[in-house]
Amino acid sequence: MSETQGTWQAGANGVRSEAAAGEVQTAGETRPGGTSGNGQAGPTGIVMMNLGGPKTLADVGPFLHRLFLDREIIQLPVQNWLGPFIARMRTKHVQELYEAIGGGSPILRWTKLQGEGMCELLDRLSPQTAPHRFYVAFRYIEPTSEDALLAMKRDGVRRAVAFTQYPQFSCATTGSSLNELWRAAAKLGLSNEFEWSVIDRWPAHPRYVEAVVETIKQGLEEFTEEEREDVVLVFSAHSLPLSVVNRGDAYPEEVGATVHEVMKRLDFAYEYMISYQSDVGPVPWLGPSTEEMIEHLGQQKRNNVLVVGISFTSDHIETLSEIDIEYAELAQKCGIAKFRRAPSLNDNPTFIKALAEIVHEHLQRGEACTKQYPLRCPGCTNPECRNILNPAIPFKRIVF
Ligand code: FES
Repeated sequence: MSETQGTWQAGANGVRSEAAAGEVQTAGETRPGGTSGNGQAGPTGIVMMNLGGPKTLADVGPFLHRLFLDREIIQLPVQNWLGPFIARMRTKHVQELYEAIGGGSPILRWTKLQGEGMCELLDRLSPQTAPHRFYVAFRYIEPTSEDALLAMKRDGVRRAVAFTQYPQFSCATTGSSLNELWRAAAKLGLSNEFEWSVIDRWPAHPRYVEAVVETIKQGLEEFTEEEREDVVLVFSAHSLPLSVVNRGDAYPEEVGATVHEVMKRLDFAYEYMISYQSDVGPVPWLGPSTEEMIEHLGQQKRNNVLVVGISFTSDHIETLSEIDIEYAELAQKCGIAKFRRAPSLNDNPTFIKALAEIVHEHLQRGEACTKQYPLRCPGCTNPECRNILNPAIPFKRIVF
């Protein structure tokens, strides 16, 4: 696939707005498979949305700058000043971390491998919507949403699926990526170019759960049978600012849903806990933090710990640096004799099959999004939230 497939950038304005509360948005007539009935054949475009990561050390500064300015992810006092200030203060340290893992984030490479495998399977699973093409849309680094949209236009895509690569929904991740996608389309004058549906969450999809279980079993192989009797599974998810959680964000319960399904498949044969990692900046974050969890397990004289990065679908700095280096050192200091991490999903064939099945099932259902998607957080004040630009299938969005 082309290097330019899929991209994003902080977009401008112009998300389509509705005239009245509860308006039903409609677009072209829809066939059962979800493809456009307007007679314009073309590939089905699958936009794989994720945060992304700096590809080189030179990308680190601009990446952090965009991240700390984004109020949909983190809200800071005097953000226009404090955001760039924090980004500048952290750049050197974060560059050192990236240097230690090879000089850049591997997330684009993994996403492309996942996208290629997914499309290959989808062409077989769903010939009526073939060919399928994937487009990567990262939040703060190329390829951006704008890149994705332009590549889709070049490829003659009409029917498009915005597919979050965050299994557990949050307005800070999936929600903000979607808002950005619609802004980018408006900015490029492509608001009516594609007919969209959205895969907004898949925390308990059986094939995804199966893939996570596989990685845990691989991780457990690092422990002897006797050690496995004592092992504690620590499901470590990316944290969220508490202000986002307190707005009514679904993320903590969706992380819990994944963990519950995974543990069910494991017959609840191990002790387990959930913790949150990667908090940054001067605001309170969702806890307990994974550091606190490691210290707690050390105090409890637990010797065997297997960390499972539950909200990550591929390796990046949070797994390769934060867990493998930083937390491993902390675990050693805390007296934990064996501290390991389950492999990331990366190119796991079961996971790639899961991605294809999730899209296939979505297209078969002919749905615009999940039933849950239009329902806003009780504390939401953002009129852009929970929209679908030019939806391929009618859906009901409550507007305030
Ligand atoms: Fe959650 Fe707007 S912040 S719906």
